[in-house]
Amino acid sequence: MQRLDKRLADTGRWSRKQARQLIRAGRVEVAGQVCRAPEQKVDGQAPVRVDGTDIGGAGPVYLMLYKPAGLISATRDAGQETVLHLLPQRYRRMGLFPVGRLDKDTEGLLLLTNDGPLAHRLLSPRSHVDKVYYVEVDGVLDEGDCRAVAAGLALPDGLACLPGRLELLEGGGRGYLTLQEGKYHQVKRMMLALGKPVRYLKRVGFGPLILDEELGKGGWRALTQLEIQALFGQ
Ligand code: URA
Repeated sequence: MQRLDKRLADTGRWSRKQARQLIRAGRVEVAGQVCRAPEQKVDGQAPVRVDGTDIGGAGPVYLMLYKPAGLISATRDAGQETVLHLLPQRYRRMGLFPVGRLDKDTEGLLLLTNDGPLAHRLLSPRSHVDKVYYVEVDGVLDEGDCRAVAAGLALPDGLACLPGRLELLEGGGRGYLTLQEGKYHQVKRMMLALGKPVRYLKRVGFGPLILDEELGKGGWRALTQLEIQALFGQ
């Protein structure tokens, strides 16, 4: 059950204030009956119409965004542009937030949703969600680094990392790093502990999601039904 004004505002088409005005003006019907009470609780399945037009389902929203460098992974910031600025206005009113954070200079896959319980579950260490990063470092990554990562690095600042997986790519200073945790600056701190500071970092995988490179930096799209189902199966 959800307040009627919130149900309207969650579509992103009206602000909460505009929704209240529409409702009080008698322009909103719930299951065929005019309802003038913004606080009225409505079932998520109940058909809601504004001026006779159905507003659609009340379901949560799941978007994949290709974060470019230069934006912060927050919902609002007094001074800086956030990833939400990449979305059309209608999405900005839906209470979307990024599931986990990428540093300002990190690129790649961000899941945005307004589904709090799912986000909570995906971020819980108990869910063991794989985060896959493409990383370029100063220096040459080698088998010793792979073994150290697989054993669980102990960082000089005291962080004991869970075992991860480092796969080397041709060229020496490049690889894929898979982690099941996401501590602050974790990849950068791990690479620094190996003596090979990060030059470039991009997340390419998050659980069952794989970055859709066709989006291009700054691009976004709704998740497919299959992707959503896979997230719930995570
Ligand atoms: N690890 C980092 O160091 N930075 C990120 O943005 C993500 C993981």
